[in-house]
Amino acid sequence: MGIGEIRLSGAKRPDCDGGRGTLFQKSCVWLVRHQHLTQWLTVSFVILKLVAEGGNGFNSNRKASTYWLSPKKEQIVKIRKSSALDGAEIEKIHIKAFGKDKGPEIADLVSGLFNDKTASPLLSLIAVEGDQLIGHILFTKATFTQTTEPASTQILAPLAVLPDVQRKGVGGQLIEEGLIRLIETGVELVFVLGHPDYYPRYGFIPAGNKGYEAPYPIPEEHAGAWMVQELSAGVIGRITGKVRCCDLLNQPEHWRE
Ligand SMILES: CC(C)(COP(=O)(O)OP(=O)(O)OC[C@H]1O[C@@H](n2cnc3c(N)ncnc32)[C@H](O)[C@@H]1OP(=O)(O)O)[C@@H](O)C(=O)NCCC(=O)NCCS
Repeated sequence: MGIGEIRLSGAKRPDCDGGRGTLFQKSCVWLVRHQHLTQWLTVSFVILKLVAEGGNGFNSNRKASTYWLSPKKEQIVKIRKSSALDGAEIEKIHIKAFGKDKGPEIADLVSGLFNDKTASPLLSLIAVEGDQLIGHILFTKATFTQTTEPASTQILAPLAVLPDVQRKGVGGQLIEEGLIRLIETGVELVFVLGHPDYYPRYGFIPAGNKGYEAPYPIPEEHAGAWMVQELSAGVIGRITGKVRCCDLLNQPEHWRE
């Protein structure tokens, strides 16, 4: 029902003429009679808008629900660079997040990457709640072979959030904070081999059809898992090439399912 269709009843107000007034007058009466409802609607609208615009505004394509953090979480979860002292806790996060079959292998990969000189510069961020580490993301250096132009490139691998705090936006917060910090250091392209339903929420798009070959062939049915995001406008389309990761990540076992 549109506002012009609202039936007005009861005593006339001196400034409005009940059922015979203009649309403005009718609206005026309705607003006065329903002032609690209008206040409530206004407050709800403002809250919804704030939730929808929550986070740090990095990617305009994002889904509001993906970035939802309760006010409590928003105050408590902090993202910071990891230090050598965080190594053991970071391993535990990966073991718990990836499970006992795959977890130890990923944890070993992460500690290996910290010691791989060809992975540098790398960016390792942790999500901290109180004094507990709850999430970790790692970006390491990548380069191009078979390219016309060099580009400052990184690859995101791995990302993990403790199972009991998943789906609260912590993974998204780690990705966004990582991308912002990479932009600040002049990185132009970021690659990821990951869930094709997850990373596009944070701006990643399929890389294969943009001219970026993965270090090892990706089976056709998983082509969407190889993704890229440009952090500098116009790089995709201008620079193409075959990606080479740091020595450890460039091993074929990390590119099989
Ligand atoms: C993937 C992971 C890091 C996401 O962390 P998170 O803090 O839960 O992520 P967010 O809260 O930002 O996003 C949650 C959303 O992503 C979705 N999501 C999580 N994992 C997903 C996956 N594997 N594929 C598709 N969507 C996924 C959730 O369903 C949720 O969707 P919703 O918002 O519609 O409910 C976490 O689930 C995890 O550690 N998983 C195990 C390790 C892993 O698979 N790492 C990624 C390797 S590429």
